[in-house]
Amino acid sequence: MTDSSETLSNLLHEQRRFEPPRDFTASANVGAATYEQSEADRLVFWAEQAQRLQWESPWSEVLQWRPPFAKWFVGGTLNASVNCVDRHVAAGHGEQVAIHFEGEPGDTRTITYAELLEQVCRAANALTELGIEKGDRVAIYLPMIPEAVVAMLACARIGAPHSVVFGGFSSQALYDRIVDAEAKLVITSDGGYRRGAPSALKPAVDEALAKGRTTVEHVLVVVRTGQEIDWVDGRDVRWAEALERQPAKHEAPAHDAEHPLYILYTSGTTGKPKGILHTTGGYLTQVSYTHHAVFDLKPDSDVYWCAADIGWVTGHSYIVYGPLSNRATVVMYEGTPDTPHRGRWWELIAKYRVSILYCAPTAIRTFMKWGSDIPAQHDLSSLRLLGSVGEPINPEAWIWYRKVIGGDRTPVVDTWWQTETGAIMISPLPGVTSTKPGSATRPLPGIGADVVDNEGRPVPNGGGGFLVLTEPWPSMLRGIWGDDARYTETYWSRFPEQGYYFAGDGAKKDEDGDLWLLGRVDDVMNVSGHRISTTEVESALVSHPRVAEAAVVGATDPTTGQAIVAFVILRGGGDSDEGELLVRQLRDHVATEIGPIAKPRQIMLVPELPKTRSGKIMRRLLRDVAENRQLGDVTTLADSSVMDLIQAKLPTAAAED
Ligand code: WTA
Repeated sequence: MTDSSETLSNLLHEQRRFEPPRDFTASANVGAATYEQSEADRLVFWAEQAQRLQWESPWSEVLQWRPPFAKWFVGGTLNASVNCVDRHVAAGHGEQVAIHFEGEPGDTRTITYAELLEQVCRAANALTELGIEKGDRVAIYLPMIPEAVVAMLACARIGAPHSVVFGGFSSQALYDRIVDAEAKLVITSDGGYRRGAPSALKPAVDEALAKGRTTVEHVLVVVRTGQEIDWVDGRDVRWAEALERQPAKHEAPAHDAEHPLYILYTSGTTGKPKGILHTTGGYLTQVSYTHHAVFDLKPDSDVYWCAADIGWVTGHSYIVYGPLSNRATVVMYEGTPDTPHRGRWWELIAKYRVSILYCAPTAIRTFMKWGSDIPAQHDLSSLRLLGSVGEPINPEAWIWYRKVIGGDRTPVVDTWWQTETGAIMISPLPGVTSTKPGSATRPLPGIGADVVDNEGRPVPNGGGGFLVLTEPWPSMLRGIWGDDARYTETYWSRFPEQGYYFAGDGAKKDEDGDLWLLGRVDDVMNVSGHRISTTEVESALVSHPRVAEAAVVGATDPTTGQAIVAFVILRGGGDSDEGELLVRQLRDHVATEIGPIAKPRQIMLVPELPKTRSGKIMRRLLRDVAENRQLGDVTTLADSSVMDLIQAKLPTAAAED
């Protein structure tokens, strides 16, 4: 571990610093003193944050910790839907816009908090009419349309945990999730708009339900595109009709703080997807607080856009529960960034005067690839804060994001968290933290995180190791649905003595103690005993002017343990004549940027990279290519033809010495 730590400290040589702008600090929601306050007494701190919510009855105990099982705000009761909607209307903000919806074809809807309340109430009544009771699970399989938000809040209102399944998942994946959660109802739509054309969703539900016996009694169908769909009488119900006949009011019951709010499936390294369980009081406390602190939301003036899909945890926490509990005006966009043109995001930012943007580094790198001239054609002056999430952000992308999108004036917050953590855990505070491109900096107030070695000992500054969470936190997963043993085994068995939560990520502490997330532990390579992050090599490659995007994997090597293999997309397309020369230059470039040990054994010039529908690069498949293996499962790829393209390119583009 010592060796690798030293290597890492040599590798990380990013020196640029960005102080928070003075005027930002002056009016920031959260100041530097918060860290001390939270350190003085963590539980008092979280109890204060919980007071930002409306509780129906008080808790008797802030935290009951029987490792690894936590209960927060024991005995307290509240309603998440009331916190996200009713209380804002009651406080006189009914006319404020809750959602600016933009459909891919350009249709728009503006929904005020008062209108959202009415929709949620009608939907809650409709769910009740369909026999959904407190505790029943509801699967939601919808495109990015406002009904998804309404459906989630209606479920929360009546205490029926939702299980949102990303609309890009197949019928098989949907079936597996419906079966595991034993869902009683599926909420879906006929389809949505994708890349300029209607795409279908309902057929996948029909297919899923035909795969075997399920507990589903009804399918509630939103009409979005008007396309022809099959209809099962008695089972299928139209959303609009079901809501129309309901009263516009619904008395929200209070739920226990530990009442399940939702299940969200996420893939583990092995086995079937895990149903991550989140409950009500602690989850809402932390998403609300982190949204307030990290995004500095000013409800009266900000327009906030989280460009994630509602099918992922980012959408749950930072499109729905965090922002709406803080009375944000949110932008919701149905489509892809390149439809009908590659300036669509920037057009939307100008149109709605978006002031806060939250997205993933993959998107940022894609925009870089498309060229800075595209955003330059739009008025982005409304932006005042930029956020990044989901994967390590390489310094090049961070700087591009700040400069080209943020006009070199906006703070950038790189936020680390997971489906399991429910809310942001490690991030700068935009009015407080001096940021470094590529570093998520430090744990938020009230959060305990550290980097430890194999034995669970904290590494000194300059050292690298495993990221762990050292204290329970309010929005922590309460378990894996129906599998307590797997919960304990996956997250709590790596460092049982210390009782740390094992995040599965590698990280480094720099000389200031700031944290650099290095990606999943399985994506950290070990070359001749040196620990090198795939991300770092990628970052080095991307800093070369000819490189648009890069993905690096560790391939098994008989001599060095692992060897670095890079897949590179060239800016402006590649030319096979220049291939060999360029590959040599790129290897040298990496050696110059990081050191000779990081020099890729092999660089393959490819036209595309394999990505999941959520935009994550599927390194597993690249590793298969790098190790000359037959390709593994390609069904989760957004575009399965990508692998054919890559393999077709290989014989001429690979170089080795
Ligand atoms: C990675 C997404 C580096 C990490 C919210 C984590 C990050 C996994 C960052 C969780 C970040 C997320 N820097 N890596 N800012 N944010 N990750 O469950 O490997 O989809 O374990 O949650 O994404 O992914 P998940």
